[in-house]
Amino acid sequence: MKKITIIGAGRVGESAAQILANEEHAHEIVLLDIREGVARGTALDIQESATLFGFDCRVTGDEDNSAMEGSDIVIVTAGLPRKPGMSRSDVLDANLEVVRGLTADIMRYAPDAKVIMVTNPVDVLTYAVWKQTGWDRSRVFGLSGVLDAARMASFIALETGFSIKDITTMVLGGHGDSMVPMSRFTTINGIPLDTFLPEEKIQQIVDRTRNGGAEILALKKTSSANDSPAAAVATMVDAVCNNRKRILPCVAILEGEYEHSDLAIGVPVILGNRGMEQVIELQLSETEHRQFQESANQVKKDLAGVS
Ligand code: LAC
Repeated sequence: MKKITIIGAGRVGESAAQILANEEHAHEIVLLDIREGVARGTALDIQESATLFGFDCRVTGDEDNSAMEGSDIVIVTAGLPRKPGMSRSDVLDANLEVVRGLTADIMRYAPDAKVIMVTNPVDVLTYAVWKQTGWDRSRVFGLSGVLDAARMASFIALETGFSIKDITTMVLGGHGDSMVPMSRFTTINGIPLDTFLPEEKIQQIVDRTRNGGAEILALKKTSSANDSPAAAVATMVDAVCNNRKRILPCVAILEGEYEHSDLAIGVPVILGNRGMEQVIELQLSETEHRQFQESANQVKKDLAGVS
């Protein structure tokens, strides 16, 4: 992997750049932001940490999108952040416009890139980028379940006291209030979660997971979560750069899976060097199926204004 561009030098973009540089996933990381000097200043700050972390990656910033030229991966974090009380869908119109402009530049300057969408509402905007590019769905996917499942695992570790290393979680559906944390697919070293926690506690964890982003936003007030979203982005980049074939829940375009086509929503996929290589279809129980379809309907509502 030679070059990774992160569009948007806000908190998520900055944290992601730092982690990706530390992990040396590319020779070159470019941060882009339309705000004069912000990306350049942020990039310089990260570059100066190279001595301390010992990475040889070159980190630069720019206001001009042409600096993404030839990128292998483009990560889109730019857009209006939500404020406390706002849902991810409330920022749709503003961010759709931002993302449409960026997509034209991605097609122009990085025509071979894989695009990882982070800007919210991420399901709808992943769809919008895919539609506008006309690219194979393997090259356009979004961050959702990696973050949501990480949050769920953290809550389980806090509740049970078990090592986070042994906890496996799965979250499907839209990255919003309708997401579907899958407690049936959640295990502690292969042992079903309900061996350790009563149904009532599991339900509390499910609810807290659904509300995970909003909980942090309500506390911080002026900004959303950035450290865990950035770590989740880095996990996805690592899977692609190292062709790990990891099974991770991501926003993917469905082509018949889960009874849907022409829809972007969180499902388990295989991430490897071809990007989103395959959608994995789970056998859902009646309740899980109903919840997933409700979530799909929610995303479809937002999609109505996008073509
Ligand atoms: C969150 C944002 C990234 O869940 O949607 O914190």
